[in-house]
Amino acid sequence: MDTIFPEDFKWGAATASYQIEGAYDEDGRGLSVWDVFSRRPGKIMNNDNGDIACDHYHRYKEDVRIMKELGLNAYRFSIAWPRILPTGEGKINRKGIDFYNRLIDELLENNIEPFITLFHWDLPQALEEKYGGWRSKTVSKLFAEYAGIVVKEYSDRVKYWATMNEIICFTYLAHELDKHAPGGREPRKVTNQTIHNALLGHGLAYTAIRQNAKKEAKIGLVEVPGAVFPIYDAEEHIEAARKAFFDKNQAILFPLMTGKYNEELVRLLGADMPDYNEEEMKIISQPLDYIGYNNYFGTPIRAAQNEKGYEEVSIPSSFPRTEMGWAITPRALYYILKFSNDFFPGLPIYITENGIACDDRETEGGEILDIDRIEYLRNHLQQCKSAINEGIPLKGYFVWSLLDNFEWSWGYSKRFGIVMVNYSNMARTIKLSGRYYSGVIKSGRVL
Ligand code: FCB
Repeated sequence: MDTIFPEDFKWGAATASYQIEGAYDEDGRGLSVWDVFSRRPGKIMNNDNGDIACDHYHRYKEDVRIMKELGLNAYRFSIAWPRILPTGEGKINRKGIDFYNRLIDELLENNIEPFITLFHWDLPQALEEKYGGWRSKTVSKLFAEYAGIVVKEYSDRVKYWATMNEIICFTYLAHELDKHAPGGREPRKVTNQTIHNALLGHGLAYTAIRQNAKKEAKIGLVEVPGAVFPIYDAEEHIEAARKAFFDKNQAILFPLMTGKYNEELVRLLGADMPDYNEEEMKIISQPLDYIGYNNYFGTPIRAAQNEKGYEEVSIPSSFPRTEMGWAITPRALYYILKFSNDFFPGLPIYITENGIACDDRETEGGEILDIDRIEYLRNHLQQCKSAINEGIPLKGYFVWSLLDNFEWSWGYSKRFGIVMVNYSNMARTIKLSGRYYSGVIKSGRVL
């Protein structure tokens, strides 16, 4: 089997502003909903917060140097909206703009292509208080204004833009399950409205990016699709998994691509359907230049004689799992790529996040021998290569994450990095998996 990746393949790592930057009240940054949520006692493991995080705000040069050492040719990071606009709208904070200017320039000097995500969950708190955050379409519009400002500043040097990261996490997990900021347990209809308003925000921002870009812009959205895989690769189970993929992605991915909420969904949600109109659906579904998929695990599916034609198979307790308790299912990654290309033929794809939390320990010699992470990465990269071999347009892969960081409600208790962060002195140490990944990048092949 051909094991060599294309020459122009993007080999990257991903991070997000709130998870790594720290410096939460420096240089005019406003508060985000995560600053407030993480102060609610008991919401975050050990009551951790992102005040300091990895101190990347001050150590970005060192972090770029590590990227260079690893051989990355791409880096996906997000911009903190409250650094650019402390209250989410109105006056621009030049010092916030400057930070990302420094970061972008540092990346480019090291031949690392910046992939910017405009929103990775740190909504300005002021917008939550004034308008109700994503409950309000005003915020969808303000998001587009913010996108326009950012793109004006950086698009002379930046080509790749993602509007948002994982809509489900700052809508459903936040507003219905109270697990993410801003938190709450609201009626279904409100949650559904936040999802729709986020999609609308994406669409409006898409237009703002096109209008303000100083050079060719590649615009996408980062989605965490409902991921599935057939129990084994027999045609009937593959077909069953394809149906399940379609059903599981009715609320976000398919409306985004097709501009429609399908009849089944409308029937299912009934009175809880969000307030929307056809004009908005057109704005939402403008043609993407690429789609970004994050994947950590998937659900096994088999064919069944029932109305749906398939059923989920429960995962045995002896199945290999990560420190998050997530089953390790590399075929799910392959099937995301395959089904995506079946439903949206030819649309370029990036794996914008994929990785594993491990029980990383430092040896006495100061090494982190995370062979479990290596195994995970190898298995998933092999699936990427299988997809490429079949002609699926996978253009790049970003490991989550460059650094150990603030893992949302898990605080610092879960480590996803290929580089360890010692939170007592902020020292960075490349883990064995980082060395492995670096070798893959340098050889351009996965065995
Ligand atoms: C994803 C998030 C990312 C990170 C990983 C583990 O859902 O996008 O920020 O926390 O999970």
